[in-house]
Amino acid sequence: MCGIVAYLGGKAVQPILVEGLKRLEYRGYDSAGVALLGGKAIRIQKTSGRISTLEKILDEPKTEETLGIGHTRWATHGQPNTTNAHPHLDYTGKIAVVHNGIIENYGTLKKWLQNEGAEFASETDTEVIANLIGYFYANGDDGKERKRTDGQNKFEWAVQRGLGELHGTYGLAIVCSDFPDMLIGAKKGSPLILGVGDNEYILASDAAAIVEHTTQAVYLADNEMVTISSKGFHTKTIDNITVSKDLKQIEFSLEQIELGGFQHHMLKEIFEQPKSLSTCMGGRIDRQNNRIKLGGIDSYLRELTRTKRLIITACGTAWHASLVGEFLFEQLARIPTETEYASEFRYRNPIIEDGTVVISISQSGETADTLAAVEQAKERGANVLGIVNVVGSSIARATDAGVYLHVGPEIGVASTKAFTAQVAVLTMLAIELGRRKHISDSEASRYIEELSMIPDKVSRILGQSDSIREIASANIDKNNWLFLGRGFNYPVALEGALKLKEISYIHAEGLPAAEMKHGPIALIVDGMPAVFIATTGPQYDKIVGNIEEVRARGGKTIVLATEGDENITKHADHLITIPDVPELLQPMLTVVPLQLLAYHAAVLRGHDVDKPRNLAKSVTVE
Ligand code: M6R
Repeated sequence: MCGIVAYLGGKAVQPILVEGLKRLEYRGYDSAGVALLGGKAIRIQKTSGRISTLEKILDEPKTEETLGIGHTRWATHGQPNTTNAHPHLDYTGKIAVVHNGIIENYGTLKKWLQNEGAEFASETDTEVIANLIGYFYANGDDGKERKRTDGQNKFEWAVQRGLGELHGTYGLAIVCSDFPDMLIGAKKGSPLILGVGDNEYILASDAAAIVEHTTQAVYLADNEMVTISSKGFHTKTIDNITVSKDLKQIEFSLEQIELGGFQHHMLKEIFEQPKSLSTCMGGRIDRQNNRIKLGGIDSYLRELTRTKRLIITACGTAWHASLVGEFLFEQLARIPTETEYASEFRYRNPIIEDGTVVISISQSGETADTLAAVEQAKERGANVLGIVNVVGSSIARATDAGVYLHVGPEIGVASTKAFTAQVAVLTMLAIELGRRKHISDSEASRYIEELSMIPDKVSRILGQSDSIREIASANIDKNNWLFLGRGFNYPVALEGALKLKEISYIHAEGLPAAEMKHGPIALIVDGMPAVFIATTGPQYDKIVGNIEEVRARGGKTIVLATEGDENITKHADHLITIPDVPELLQPMLTVVPLQLLAYHAAVLRGHDVDKPRNLAKSVTVE
């Protein structure tokens, strides 16, 4: 979704903003722009399209311009055209704003401002923010809310006065032409981080735009703002109450967000999985005592053991991981568990009884629906635990306790290493709860031992990348695919279909294999690819039957089978092998070839894998 980068320091600002915007490209966007200040003039340059298009229209950088704000926009209100692109300048020409989030009462405010003589150029909600601040800046203290305190500068006061009128969410960077040494940031419901360097400051919505300059940062909380000048910075609430904030270390490095020789971030992240899984599970598996230790939720384990009902809520890929979690908690710990789409959960008056525990899963920790579901669950008295990747993100902070994935930044829009780590965390938790409730110590020990071998087994699967590319190539002209699995591999079938859809734009359906004959079998025509996960497990014979049902109707079968399964070869047009593991641990392995299949199909079709059309890395709007 939208991205913000702003800079105040001693260097020419334009190239710094452009580099920062490039670091935010992965989030998804359709237009971009910058506002630059050197002396008392604001220079705005913006365009629809990519940063490369923006670079073409930019004037030569000016060394005297050392303050500026930049933005990548993912359209919500109004077309993705140049007029609607950020930054937006107010009607007086003094205030420029970039904004992430949505202003719900922008229609009412716009009418009021128009009656007061403000002119609007765009269809965006953001222009209302610029004009509101510009209006209060021009008209001064109206004696109503948020009076200007002694000594408070007029720009900061006008920002507070304007923000007080807004309903909705925002991450903002704001400049004023009368204050060429001042940058203001404000946050409510949309992330904003201040990177503190050596006599320079980078304000951004994402640490990826900061790490090139500094790893020291201040994370703003909701309803907080920061005022920055060359003399330093101070943080306050929007209501003008001073808050002191600690400097925190940004946890990831520049290297982690660069391609490192891979063609795409997605491929890099698929290949990182042996390492990311080791990091995620490393300190948490105690092989000597055969125990799992999830530090972040230690104090909730007793409550989890006693809970009568678990609800897991998430979106997209994280929802698929949640479904694996549901099967694990029910099988290993016999805890009734429901997996809920966060977008539905938040609106459907869910029943949360005393003792219900809610687990929320999100890679970014910023998904608007998932965050709203967390808030809904908390309001109803549930303890809410988070399984999140981005440290310090909104969901990580909103939950009562949680477990971080620790897989480093995931840049590819198609989630890969986060999925395997989410499943790893859920598996560790289910084993530990199972050991306390239902399964024997020796069974738990066996799973723990198997878990520790998963990273190496993922490496073995990655070795088949070239043959998986050939499978993708042989079927690349097919526009409808099926992904079928049973038991623990049914959520993996859903995930395989989602991966193919989102980056190759090929229509795919994921299904529990037995459901096929209740309708979708009608879709099968000669040559239609059907991907079956037919690894060893209690339903192996049944799924072989399902494979034959597809073959009998002319479908082409791409079969994932356990290494050494010779029986399967006669049922498969294409074969991918998976190292042997107990069925409940298979999702961390069986998903990997499906990620590769989607990746190769998208590249073969000529798509930009890391920037799929219409998609954003984290969906921070409803
Ligand atoms: O950041 P989150 O895990 O909360 O994101 C949830 C979904 O938006 C995300 O998994 C999405 O489905 C991915 N594009 C899938 O690859």
